[in-house]
Amino acid sequence: MEEFHKVRRLPPYVFEQVNRLKASARSRGADIIDLGMGNPDLPTPKAIVDKLCEVVRDPRTHRYSSSRGIPGLRRAQANYYGRRFGVKLDPDTQVVATLGSKEGFANMAQAITAPGDVILCPNPTYPIHAFGFIMSGGVIRSLQVEPDDGFIPALERGIRHSIPKPLALILNYPSNPTAQVASLDFYKEVVAFAKKNDIIILSDLAYSEIYFDGNPPPSVLQVPGAIDVAVEFTSMSKTFSMPGWRMGFAVGNHRLISALTRVKSYLDYGAFTPIQVAAAHALNGDGADIAEVRDIYHKRRDVMVDAFSRAGWIVPAPAASMFAWAPIPEPFKHLGSLEFSKLLIEHADVAVAPGVGFGEHGDDHVRIALVENEHRIRQAARNIKRFLASSAKQPNNVVPLAAHR
Ligand SMILES: Cc1ncc(COP(=O)(O)O)c(C=O)c1O
Repeated sequence: MEEFHKVRRLPPYVFEQVNRLKASARSRGADIIDLGMGNPDLPTPKAIVDKLCEVVRDPRTHRYSSSRGIPGLRRAQANYYGRRFGVKLDPDTQVVATLGSKEGFANMAQAITAPGDVILCPNPTYPIHAFGFIMSGGVIRSLQVEPDDGFIPALERGIRHSIPKPLALILNYPSNPTAQVASLDFYKEVVAFAKKNDIIILSDLAYSEIYFDGNPPPSVLQVPGAIDVAVEFTSMSKTFSMPGWRMGFAVGNHRLISALTRVKSYLDYGAFTPIQVAAAHALNGDGADIAEVRDIYHKRRDVMVDAFSRAGWIVPAPAASMFAWAPIPEPFKHLGSLEFSKLLIEHADVAVAPGVGFGEHGDDHVRIALVENEHRIRQAARNIKRFLASSAKQPNNVVPLAAHR
């Protein structure tokens, strides 16, 4: 029987192949150090968990909640934007809570896309950026470009060669997977371009608080007038180590926020109220929890870059995000990122995410997530050192797994 139309447009998740291999190595007793999925390993700060436990005892919180987010939560998010970015938001019309930012992004795509609408999307990028729109009948035009001088010319080319003219542009800085960051000046140029060409900006700022070199990533909404064309998504998952809680936000342009709010009102009843209250408590905090999470990733980053380089693998130090975007070492480059990732599991007991899983232009890199402790990261580096040394001595012994099958 033929696959359903929508399912046919969703290729099997590349990461599934790595996951299967990881599971089978583990079932053989291998101790796989998992730097693959960006799944934070740190516990949610105690005060946030305590708040959840306190609130959950009140049976009134067990009813359906509010799809767009309870008022106190939307106010807390608006206050966060005020404190952190100096951006004033109306919690009633410019803020909506989402069930994680991934859900918010996908439903925004659903809310605004007509069949055939063209979306300008980075490549490589976090998969929902493209597939949220593909699932909604949109068409992706990939931008293989960094947030530098080449960006606006790439947008101009994108506009010139797209019929119909693109509906929206996706930005994601700090980037998953590349960890690139953008400056406020960059955003100014992009906003001016978007306004001139009547294009919506969807900015994914999931890593707003994970930065290491003293430069907090800006929000696109800091650009005066950006709110006329832009919406931004943030997430509690990384900032407060709350990935399983599923709490995020979309903020910005009233028309876009109200479109998302409308679609969500048909789909969900909002996150469980105790989660929303605890999330508001987190956002209203003094920032100490955020600083602690940031500090842990910072130390892990330093350990990883240092230990991997001593193992013979030079990995550029990311300035932000919880990822390093690592070029595949020269002797393995020709294999591509999926085969190289498989080799690392098989011969070094280390899992990473193959760059091709984020788009075709990611295939000469793998993504290393800082989601194991410093000790385990050092162990991963030792394993990789051994693997690189043995493959240099006997290259024929290290055959891509596909060749065994
Ligand atoms: C860039 C980016 N956006 C969104 C998400 C999803 O976050 P959430 O847990 O809020 O859905 C992630 C998670 O890895 C991400 O890296």
